[in-house]
Amino acid sequence: MMITANNPNPPRVLGGIGAAVRRVDGPLKVTGGARYASDVGVTNPAYAYLHTSAVALGRITQIDESSARALPGVIEILTYQNAAGAFDPITLFNQGGIATTTIMPLQSPDIRHDGEIVAVIIAETYETARDASHRLRITYDTRTPTATFGEEGLVEEKAADGDPRHDDISVGNAEEALATAQVLVDQRYATPIQHHNPIELYTTTVQWEGNELTIYEPSQFVVGMQHGIAAQMRHDPAKTHFVSPYVGGGFGAKAGITPRTALVGLAARRLNRPVKLVATRDQGFTIATYRAETRHRVRLGASGDGRITCLIHEGEEITSRADKYSVAGTYISARMYAAPAIRTRVNVQHADRDTPGYMRAPAEVPYMFALESAMDELSYAVGIDPVALRRVNEPECDPVTGLPFSSRSLNDCYEAAATAFQWSSRDPRPASMTDGDWQVGMGCASAVYPTYISPSFVRVTLLPTSAQVEVAGHDLGTGAYTIYAQVAAEGLGLQVEQVAVRMGDSRLPPATAAVGSISATTICSAINMGCAQALERVATAAVADAEGAFFGRDAAALMLEGGTLRHPDGTAETLELALVRLGGAVEVLADNAPPGTKPGALAGVRAGRLSFLGGTLDPQFTKMAFGAEFVEVRVHRRTREVRVSRLVGAFASGRIINPLTARSQLLGGMIWGVSSALHEATEIDHRVARYTNDNLAEYLIPVNADIPQIEVIFVPEADPEVNALGIKGLGTLSNVGTDAAVCNAIYHATGVRIRDLPVRIEKLLP
Ligand code: MOS
Repeated sequence: MMITANNPNPPRVLGGIGAAVRRVDGPLKVTGGARYASDVGVTNPAYAYLHTSAVALGRITQIDESSARALPGVIEILTYQNAAGAFDPITLFNQGGIATTTIMPLQSPDIRHDGEIVAVIIAETYETARDASHRLRITYDTRTPTATFGEEGLVEEKAADGDPRHDDISVGNAEEALATAQVLVDQRYATPIQHHNPIELYTTTVQWEGNELTIYEPSQFVVGMQHGIAAQMRHDPAKTHFVSPYVGGGFGAKAGITPRTALVGLAARRLNRPVKLVATRDQGFTIATYRAETRHRVRLGASGDGRITCLIHEGEEITSRADKYSVAGTYISARMYAAPAIRTRVNVQHADRDTPGYMRAPAEVPYMFALESAMDELSYAVGIDPVALRRVNEPECDPVTGLPFSSRSLNDCYEAAATAFQWSSRDPRPASMTDGDWQVGMGCASAVYPTYISPSFVRVTLLPTSAQVEVAGHDLGTGAYTIYAQVAAEGLGLQVEQVAVRMGDSRLPPATAAVGSISATTICSAINMGCAQALERVATAAVADAEGAFFGRDAAALMLEGGTLRHPDGTAETLELALVRLGGAVEVLADNAPPGTKPGALAGVRAGRLSFLGGTLDPQFTKMAFGAEFVEVRVHRRTREVRVSRLVGAFASGRIINPLTARSQLLGGMIWGVSSALHEATEIDHRVARYTNDNLAEYLIPVNADIPQIEVIFVPEADPEVNALGIKGLGTLSNVGTDAAVCNAIYHATGVRIRDLPVRIEKLLP
C-alpha cells in the first residue's frame, strides 16, 4: 500500500502546530509499555464471565446453578434472583455520561434481546468462570421476537426527541416542486447492521478500597462514566474513579455506559475483592452497541441543467423496544446542496433488539450513502458529470436555515481530488471501460462532518525546562497525545519532547467525550488558552520585577521561545530564571467556554454532561468540514468479483495540527468506507432475532490485499469562526461517502446500481 499526503500548513516552529511529529506514545505502544485497562494489575482479582441469553424475547422460568456452583473455584453467580434492585434505573442522557441502553440486565426475569446478560459468574480463574457458564442451565419461556424491517410487530415512532438535529425539516413546498421537476430521481436505499469490533475487547476491572471505587475500563468519556456509574450504583461520584489511559479502538462503542460496568462493580463490592471482566468477541456484539440498519427513500427533482429543485429524504431506523435511539442524518443530507424546497422525515421502528449506539459518523454514513448515491443517479438522469453536478448545486448558504457556512471548501476538494485521480480520463458512459477481463469504473462522492466544540478544562503546568498538560481526555489511537503536546509546545515555546500529556483519568481536569470529532477542537482550544494564561503570568511577573531585565515593559509584548522569555527589543532571559519570580512553576487551570456556551455548561462538564456547540447548532454559522472521495473499481466480467483499485480523498478540515496523524485518521476512515461498501454486515437470523456472524471470521472486514493505493490530500482551509486555532477535527469525516463512491464506481463499471449495502457478488450477477 502506497500512502501519500501533503502538508497544508507547514509548522511555524519545530514540533509545533502543523509539524509531522511521530506519535509520542508510539514507543510505549509498540514495546508493550502502554497499559490498557485490562492490563492493569490489581491484587488477587477474581474473574468474571458473562452468561448471555439464548433467546431474544421471553422470560427466565428456571435457573439451575447446581452444576456450575459445584465446580471448584466458582465464587458467586449473579442473576436477577440475587441482583434485582441493586441499581438505579438509567436514562440515555440524564445521569451524566451517555447510557448506551436503559435495558438493565439482572433486574427481572424478562429478556428483551438476544445476548442480554442473564448471569455473571465469578471464579478464581477465567477458565473456571467460563466452564461454569457452560454448566449453567437456564430455562426460558420464549415468545417470537421481531428482528428487523419488514416483520410483524414493529412499532413505528417519529425520531424527534428534543434534539433539534432529529427534527423533520421543511423548506419551501417540496411536493409542488417535485410535481414540476423536469428530471426526477426517486429511489430507495438500505444500509445494514454493523458492529464496531474494536480490537481491544470490552473489559472492566473494578477495585473497591473501602468506599473508594476505581474502575479500569477502555473509555471515550471517563468523566461521563464516573458520574453515570456513580448514579447507577448510588455511589458518591467524588469517590468514583475511572481510569483509561489507552484505548485500543473505540469508534463510538466505548463512549457510553454499558450495563456490564455496574454488574462487575456489584460483584466486586459483594466479594470485597477486585473483579476483572474481559468479555468475549461474540458477547461484544450484544453487550455494547452497533450501527442499526437503515432504509431510505430519496427523491431529487431537478431542472434540465442539473439544478436541484427539490430534495425529499425519508429515513427509517431500527431501535430497541425500550429506547428511542436514532441518528436521523437528514439534518446533514438536507444541507449538502442548494435545494430551494426540502422535506425530510425520519422514523424509528422498535424491534426486539439491543439498543443501537454511536458508530463513527453515526448519522452521516448511512444518510450520505443514500444522498450521494441519488446524486450519482441524478448525474446520469440529467447527463451531467457528477463533479460538475456538485458544482452546479453548491449552495451560497445553509439551505435549511439560510445561515452562512463558516467555511465550505467542497468544490476545492472535488477539484483537488479529481485532478489527482485523473478523473478527466474517464469515459462517462457506464460499462464502457475495460482492462482485459475486468470492467473498470470510476465514481465519486462527498464527505461531510459537522464541526463541534465543547467547553472544557485543562491544566497546564509550566516548569523550568518542561511542561505538563493534564486533561480527562482520551486517545483512542488517533494521535491525541501527540497533537496536544504540539499545541502546548507551540504555546509555551518548548520542544514537543518537553511536554508531557496526561489523559484518560477522571481525576484530571474534566473534559468532554471523545466523540463527534470534538476532541481536537475542544482540547486544543483549552490548551491554547492555558498556555496563553501561563505566558501572561510569567510576563506579568517579569515586567513587575524592578530588578529584572523586563521591568516596565509591556507584558503583552513578551513571548516564550526556545525555553527563553523574550521581548522584541532583544531582551531575553531563560524560562528557568523567569519562573523564579513565580516560585519555580506556573500552574494554570484553563476553563475554556467557547462563544455560545450556555450558563452552567462548564459545571455540566464537571458533572459528565455533554455540551455540543457548533455544527448545525450554531446560531451564527453552519460549521462543517467537507471532502471529496474518488474510487476506481474493477469488476470481473465473469466472476463478478469487485476490487477497489484506487482511492483518492481530498479533505478541507480547517487547520491540520499534524499531517501524519491526520493522514492516518483520513485514510483509516476511507478504508472503513470500503469495508462498509464491500465487506461489513452483521447478519441476523430473522426467526430468533439473533446476530449470526458474531466473530471476526464471518464478520467481514478488509485485509491489506483489499486496499490498494490510497492518496490523502489536505485542501488548505482557514476558518477563524470555528475556534481560535481554526481546527475542524478529523475523526469521522473521511468515513462518510466512501461507500457511495464505491457503488457509484461499480455502476460506472457495470451499469448495475447497488442500493442495498453491502455489495455482494450475487447482486452483480446478470
Ligand atoms: Mo464517535 S461514533 O463520534 O465515537
